[in-house]
Amino acid sequence: MGQSVLGKCLRLSRPYWGLLALALFLSAIASALSGSVAWLVKPVLDDIFIAKNYIYLKLLPLALITLYFLRGLTTFFQAYLMRMAALRLSNDLREKMYDKLLKIPVSEVGRETTGRIVSRVINDTTTVEPILADVFKTLTLEGLTIITLVSVAVSRRWDLALLSFTVFPAVAFGARQMSKKARKTRHRAQQEIANLTHRVNESLLGMREIKIYRQESSLLQKFRQELWAYYRFLLKVTKYREGSKLIVDLLTGVGGALVLTYGGFLIVRGTITPGDFFSILTAILMTFTPVRKISRAYTGIHDAAAALERIEEVLSYPEEKGGPRKASAPEKDLCLARVSFKYPHTSEWVLKDVELEIPAGKVTAIVGPSGAGKTTLVSLIPRFYDPTLGKVLLDGIDLKEFDLASLRGLIGLVSQDIILFNATVYENIAFGKPEASREEVIQAARLAYAHEFIEKLPRGYDTILGEKGFSLSGGQKQRLAIARAILKNPPILILDEATSHLDAVSEQKVQQALEGLMQGRTTIVIAHRLSTVKNADLLVVMDHGKIVAQGRHEEIIKRCPLYRELYHSFSRSGKVIPLKKRRV
Ligand SMILES: Nc1ncnc2c1ncn2[C@@H]1O[C@H](COP(=O)(O)OP(=O)(O)OP(=O)(O)O)[C@@H](O)[C@H]1O
Ligand SMILES: [Mg+2]
Repeated sequence: MGQSVLGKCLRLSRPYWGLLALALFLSAIASALSGSVAWLVKPVLDDIFIAKNYIYLKLLPLALITLYFLRGLTTFFQAYLMRMAALRLSNDLREKMYDKLLKIPVSEVGRETTGRIVSRVINDTTTVEPILADVFKTLTLEGLTIITLVSVAVSRRWDLALLSFTVFPAVAFGARQMSKKARKTRHRAQQEIANLTHRVNESLLGMREIKIYRQESSLLQKFRQELWAYYRFLLKVTKYREGSKLIVDLLTGVGGALVLTYGGFLIVRGTITPGDFFSILTAILMTFTPVRKISRAYTGIHDAAAALERIEEVLSYPEEKGGPRKASAPEKDLCLARVSFKYPHTSEWVLKDVELEIPAGKVTAIVGPSGAGKTTLVSLIPRFYDPTLGKVLLDGIDLKEFDLASLRGLIGLVSQDIILFNATVYENIAFGKPEASREEVIQAARLAYAHEFIEKLPRGYDTILGEKGFSLSGGQKQRLAIARAILKNPPILILDEATSHLDAVSEQKVQQALEGLMQGRTTIVIAHRLSTVKNADLLVVMDHGKIVAQGRHEEIIKRCPLYRELYHSFSRSGKVIPLKKRRV
């Protein structure tokens, strides 16, 4: 397990192998220098203290200073380089995951709640990061240090050295058991932190709902429970981690006692000099710190393994796939051929055997009660979803054959839930056409009847909109989204209740702008307001996922009772009524 994680990390960090190799080389020097410290103990004791040799007295302190200085320097640089590689690796992973998120199909996003995905991109990569910086460093540097120290000890007196090293297998075993337990608990803790992230996110997004339904105390209660669970898991992890240190400490004592007894016996018998003895003792005592570090690193590997697994899961999400064909502006109809659809992981058919020809360059209006499947139907056109059965054809060619970017390049969309990005008003509009000039952007805003309110914002077009555009009203957001679509100037235009949030006066003006925009474009309008719909070239009435009538207003009003009902209730009230409200 440990090895495979290391292997994976090494493979992922291929671009930084140069850095790692340099760091490794420095590690080797640093550990050799550590070994020399133990080596020097013998001449210090035997030649200075016992033989009273003055030359050594002058040389050795200098050697010591040089040694420690060099060791410090090499350790510093190797740590710095390792960290550099580790940070770059985790940034690479973040970038890869983010890139992946931008490519996964809309249909996959429901599978994971957003909070969890966010946690994977940010937290899990943070957990993987130390694996190169600390774990790999520890394994190489401390591993090499142990090897040199052992060599020094063995070369001084092999049987005494071996005796004291017999405790190592026991240390390794104990640490391994503990780290296994720690890993499991750590995994649970990571899940718990993902839940916490999710809850905080959700609470910010749903602030209004929480306040109006007075959920504060019950949410706090849940949050507290999750915090406690997290606390307990982490405390357990600490127990296992510190427990493994305890084992190492205990065995250190035993090892020391063994060496002292046998070594003392050898000195008394005159087999070895006190210098030999203390040199070995220093080497052994110096090994315990690296051993402890390695055993801790082992736990670190398991933390990282869990995180890496979750990262890989994100990286293995399927990506959207388009075909090879470049899409061009439609000349004939946009055709839904016997399309049925259900959302992934659900059982209910949301569209049932829909047969529809959307005429090129004309306006098609879709009406129907809330939940009829209107939004679902139009989301098949940019291939946010693909039909479960049947096909969508553009100029007689299955949408799946088109290159996604070129297909989507043809489509302008003003959706029901408008998302504004955390950027300036200007950038939010220019989203529709990044290469547009300032004049074009302002012109689009004027056409969408947005220029006036934008001018009044604190910094005009340079005002930064908060997350999801908190600072704008529903109607203002809609006008920005319309400006975005106008700027893109697409041959296919989808308006999903694009003017539902506007007051009657603004709506009329935006409507005029939109009518200008619809000229000569394949336009699909979903409207709850029938004024828009009456003049459409083709009117489609949907109910429960089926098309119940299609044609012109004058025909349908005679044939379709549902439409008649909708229409009459609209006329009776004398003002525009969203159908959605009627049904509730
Ligand atoms: N992402 C989704 N996953 C699962 N079911 C969904 C999803 N989106 C919509 N549905 C379901 O599909 C059905 C049709 O929804 P759709 O949004 O297409 O209706 P609509 O006609 O646009 O309604 P409205 O007028 O309220 O916008 C509804 O029953 C809804 O619950
Ligand atoms: Mg809808």
